[in-house]
Amino acid sequence: MKNIAILASGTGSNANEVAKYFAISDDVNVSIILTNNPQAGVLQVAERRFLPSVVISKQGLQKGDLLKILNALQIDLVVLAGFLLMIPCDVVEAYEGRIVNIHPALLPKYGGKGMYGMRVHEAVSAAGDTETGITIHYVNEKYDEGDIIAQYKVSIKAHEDPELIREKVQELEHKYYPRVIAGLLNAKRAEN
Ligand code: GAR
Repeated sequence: MKNIAILASGTGSNANEVAKYFAISDDVNVSIILTNNPQAGVLQVAERRFLPSVVISKQGLQKGDLLKILNALQIDLVVLAGFLLMIPCDVVEAYEGRIVNIHPALLPKYGGKGMYGMRVHEAVSAAGDTETGITIHYVNEKYDEGDIIAQYKVSIKAHEDPELIREKVQELEHKYYPRVIAGLLNAKRAEN
C-alpha cells in the first residue's frame, strides 16, 4: 500500500479529483488532507469523502509539525493541490523526489512567488499568449523551480477571458493530475 498526503489551501477541486481517483484503488490510500486555511473548501472535500483532515498553521509548519505528521503516517508521496505556503526545508530535504506540485501554466513561464490561481491566468491573458497549460513538477526549496514531470497544453485566443482560461486549465488539471500521480506511484513500486 502506498500512502499519499494532499495539501491544499483553497477550494480543493484538484484534491477532490485525486481523492476520487484513488477511492477505488486497492494499493493507494489518501491518508490525510492537510490545509493551512481553516476556511478552505478542501475541508468539506475531506468530510464528503470521509478522509481525515488537519489544519496546520504557518507557525506549525515552520516548527516541524508537517514533517512529524508525514513521518507518523509513513507517507510515500506528498501531493500539493493549490497549497500556497512554502514547504519548509526539513520536509523538502526528508521527502526529496517525493513531493509534487501542480501549477496552472507552462513553467518556467508565469511561475514564482505570488503567481497562483487567477493571477496566473490574468498574466497569460494580458500577455496575449495563444496557448497555456499545466505543469506537474517536483518541489524543491524554490517556488515552481523543481524538475518538471509533465506538461499538458491547451489553445486559447489571444487576450482570452481569464475565467475561460481558468476553466480550460482546470479541465487539464482534473484529467491529468491523478493519472500522473498514479504513474509516479507505480514507478516507485517497481523500484522497490
Ligand atoms: C489550481 O489551479 C492549481 O494549479 C493552483 O491553484 C489551483 C487550486 O485549485 N496552484 C497554484 O497556482 C500553485 N502556484 P483547486 O483548489 O480548485 O484545486
